[in-house]
Amino acid sequence: MIKQNSIEQVFDIAAIEDVVGEFVNLKRRGANMLGLCPFHNEKTPSFTVSPTKGLYKCFGCGKGGNAAGFIMEHEKLSYPEAIRWLAQKYNIQLEETKPSLDAEEQSVIDSLYIVNEFAKKYFIEQLWESEEGKAVGLTYFKERGFREDIIKKFELGYSNSSWDGFIKAATKAGYKLEYGEQLGLIRSKGEDAATKRQFDFFRNRIMFTIHSISGKPIAFAGRTLLQDKKVPKYINSPETEIYHKSRVLYGMAFAKNAIRKANKCYIVEGYTDVISLHQAGIENVVAASGTSFTEQQIKQIKRFTNNISVLFDGDAAGLKAANRSVEMILEQDMNVKIVVLPEGEDPDSFVQKNGLTGFEKFVAESETDFIFFTINLLESEAENDPVAKAAMIQNIVRLLAKIPDPIKRNLYIQSAAAQLNIRERILIEQTNKIQRELFRKHSFAKKDDAELLQQHTADDATAEPQDQLITNRTEVLEKHLAGLFIEFGDKNYDHDILVSNYLLGAIQQINIENNLYNEIVDYYKKKEEGTINSEFFINHQKLEIATFAVDVLTSPYVLSNNWKDLYEIFITDRTINFKQDIDDFMYKFQMNYLMKNIEAVQKRMKDQQAIDASPETEKELIKLIKMNKELLDLKTQLAEQFGMVTVK
Ligand code: CTP
Ligand code: MN
Repeated sequence: MIKQNSIEQVFDIAAIEDVVGEFVNLKRRGANMLGLCPFHNEKTPSFTVSPTKGLYKCFGCGKGGNAAGFIMEHEKLSYPEAIRWLAQKYNIQLEETKPSLDAEEQSVIDSLYIVNEFAKKYFIEQLWESEEGKAVGLTYFKERGFREDIIKKFELGYSNSSWDGFIKAATKAGYKLEYGEQLGLIRSKGEDAATKRQFDFFRNRIMFTIHSISGKPIAFAGRTLLQDKKVPKYINSPETEIYHKSRVLYGMAFAKNAIRKANKCYIVEGYTDVISLHQAGIENVVAASGTSFTEQQIKQIKRFTNNISVLFDGDAAGLKAANRSVEMILEQDMNVKIVVLPEGEDPDSFVQKNGLTGFEKFVAESETDFIFFTINLLESEAENDPVAKAAMIQNIVRLLAKIPDPIKRNLYIQSAAAQLNIRERILIEQTNKIQRELFRKHSFAKKDDAELLQQHTADDATAEPQDQLITNRTEVLEKHLAGLFIEFGDKNYDHDILVSNYLLGAIQQINIENNLYNEIVDYYKKKEEGTINSEFFINHQKLEIATFAVDVLTSPYVLSNNWKDLYEIFITDRTINFKQDIDDFMYKFQMNYLMKNIEAVQKRMKDQQAIDASPETEKELIKLIKMNKELLDLKTQLAEQFGMVTVK
């Protein structure tokens, strides 16, 4: 763990324009600097850097953050890695806390990495230096056409036929076998210590090192060279604390830059496909390594590009099964293309035979947009059967509805209608129907903040109480409250009161339901006056908080309507008028709280009235009526206090 004061030192010294400037050409524009966003394609610059605030923000794609955040995003590093990157740039010596007891878990993880690193080197050494490795493993790789530089780059190796080669080597090097066991490199037979026998898991196989996105060895796959059907072709490391299969893409460490550059990612099935394509010069390629795709894997690709091209083997068997993966890609608003290789070929064999130009030519000619690909496939199945055709339309509509971008969706609908020779309206209506259902499921969760706020007016009381709507309205308001704290908390509201204290006074009895926003407000409650400010949140270790703070400080937000021209007045002029905004907002916030209570009381009144009159219900009802009256009075009071008019 890096010590907090070291982190602060890094932030003190690192200048955002300097850090960003290493990757982006920046031009001064008033108080800010402007450049072309490195995270999305643009021709006119909307990527802004504010040296005074220490922030960057792209108004095109919405990305934003501080210097560490920029390095995390751009270099795909974790937070501590980004801090180390900055420290190196500025020659800052980082102090690390000694692994204490609560760092025990971290030290186990470190040990797992270290032992895997050792295993990797062991397998590589076996391949290049042992007689067996050279004769069996290396010969095999070379026969398959893998060049030496590629074998080295992908850190391919060999596990020999001995039962305890790795165990012996690890013991000799002083590693605890316990970690080897945890990593699945060592297995054991027998229950108690006396009969327990340990042995190497990987034996007699060529070895593939599986790397994390930053290139560390996190797992291994071993392929047998035997033809024996009873021997599994591949065996793999189990899930461990450092290897979560569903989050890993084979080859990503070597592919990420190429994917970004080409703005496209090829997906293949096997390890050898990735390696062969690389060797031919196609480096923007990854594999899911034997499992079907997960959302996490797709999101990982989305960090680098929106364009995916899936390469399928010629035997078409996998095509149908792959449907679900492709649907997931569509849901992430990515563009999916399909390439089906000639019969009997996989990407590995195809590129070995046809080379780079042959591969590129084939892809250019046969790459088909997934939607049209599916339409073709379904159409050929349906032929002239009207029932099958109806089912086919349903299938296609289901896919179309998965496309989140309405413009793109409509373009697809147009072409699909033309291709299928059915009326566009039918597709539109069917798609809308499914969309409505999907929408109902996620319901208000996705509703626009501004829209929800608008629904919050003083005469909401007459509207039907809608639990869901109230919950969301509350959340939106809480979000704004937390935003006000972060942005203006340490500023003066009046000459003698800070905004944070003013707000705390106004929300005294009100519970903040959302955990994140509550945590933010809590800092102001607990800390000495004036010690918490926006910077504290921007540099917060918890990414969720830091991200939120950045969003608050860089987005136009809904506080005031005067900020239409946010591009020009980005950050610098935001503080104008904030007092009025805070008052407007506090009115809404307190009113929402009151309304929630009034609605609850009125609902209980209704419930009581529905019960047969008895002295108890009568008493309860009177109590409720009194409460209702008090709340309504409070509401009038509140309105008067803020100079608003309410209709009673
Ligand atoms: N796979 C696996 N276990 C198996 C078979 C396959 O995990 N028993 C996974 C591997 O990730 C493999 C991928 O599925 O890379 C594709 O399988 P296959 O085409 O059979 O293997 P290739 O990698 O193409 O190997 P080779 O070309 O050497 O036959
Ligand atoms: Mn293959």
